[in-house]
Amino acid sequence: MSESTKALGSARDTAMTAIVQNRYGAPEQVLAPAEIARPVPGDDEVLVRMRATSVNTPDWLAVQGVPYLLRLQSGLRRPAAPVRGSDIAGVVAATGKNVTDLRIGDEVFGSQWGTKSRPGTFAEFALASADRLIAKPAELTFEEAGAAVMSGITALLAVRDVSRAGPGKRILINGASGGVGTFAIQIAKTLGAHVTGVCSTRNVEFVRSLGADEVVDYTRDDYTRGAQRYDAILDNVLNHSPAANAALLTPTGTFIPNSIGNAAGLFGGLPRIGRAHLMGLGSADVRSVTCVPDRGNLRDLAALLASGDVKVIIERTYPLAEAAAAITHMLGHRARGQIAVTIRPGGDSGGEID
Ligand SMILES: NC(=O)c1ccc[n+]([C@@H]2O[C@H](COP(=O)([O-])OP(=O)(O)OC[C@H]3O[C@@H](n4cnc5c(N)ncnc54)[C@H](OP(=O)(O)O)[C@@H]3O)[C@@H](O)[C@H]2O)c1
Repeated sequence: MSESTKALGSARDTAMTAIVQNRYGAPEQVLAPAEIARPVPGDDEVLVRMRATSVNTPDWLAVQGVPYLLRLQSGLRRPAAPVRGSDIAGVVAATGKNVTDLRIGDEVFGSQWGTKSRPGTFAEFALASADRLIAKPAELTFEEAGAAVMSGITALLAVRDVSRAGPGKRILINGASGGVGTFAIQIAKTLGAHVTGVCSTRNVEFVRSLGADEVVDYTRDDYTRGAQRYDAILDNVLNHSPAANAALLTPTGTFIPNSIGNAAGLFGGLPRIGRAHLMGLGSADVRSVTCVPDRGNLRDLAALLASGDVKVIIERTYPLAEAAAAITHMLGHRARGQIAVTIRPGGDSGGEID
């Protein structure tokens, strides 16, 4: 019997362990492991036995329920969807009747992001729409694949499509040492662009090692006061005004505000993003980027990762039972690359399948 059919035939075949959030607040106070119903794939969905996922900005925003305005969508008093996580790496455990190109036992990676598949991925099993999964590159560990999707595709779309980085183009990446930034530097270099990364002192050599041609240490220098002009600015922090960023652009340059900034309060950084886009109605070219983890983008990311040109930088990997600590880590806003979460079906109770 295959790995997957074995597990589905076990005593726990209708339940699974997930990290469940019943209210908003600090991760350690609102997240706890619980047994919940194992989801059943719809006709176009795949049930994945999860091996790894990762923490991304939407996860810590949803745990805290910030900015408060977003609670209109996520649930006023408590999150309507109680399981966090969207990146997926694992093994196909079951398929819906319309899914013909993925089979039980296939190693896959992908995402739930932007789809209605629930619950989230901080769980032993996760659902994904089949068009949001592809084969996991054999060169990647499950942790690398499960930490690559949201940040990697966001960086790919921002750098390749929105900024149109290439030879002779200068791109500045603010927040260069974080999840999105570490992918963005490497992807911009594979496209032949000149990259300036902005980070703190402790990350200067690290950012350079990823390929950045120049590094601005924000504890010593304010990049918005420099004389250099850029064809694109990917701003993953949004700690300077949109106007200060726009002033650094070449006449055809593009500003990409890619952060909710300070997420506190009713609106968080939303007004600043709004101002940036209003500015874009004038002479400045201001564009947003949205992570779309469809098969085309997953394949493009997988090719970059499989070639070794782009590496998944993981600062630390936490077991699923410590998901709250993983989210707290990211909430410090100093993560170097991604924070991965390892999921071993059967977990503490044994039952490990590998
Ligand atoms: N558009 C989309 O679909 C999409 C998808 C995913 C994420 N995002 C956005 O992308 C942004 C970045 O996400 P992420 O996962 O990369 O965040 P992250 O991993 O939490 O970023 C952490 C990094 O930020 C750096 N940082 C903190 N303060 C800084 C400052 N003042 N100046 C420069 N760097 C600073 C830190 O470097 P130091 O330790 O050196 O300070 C750290 O390495 C988020 O705001 C998120 O909302 C958008």
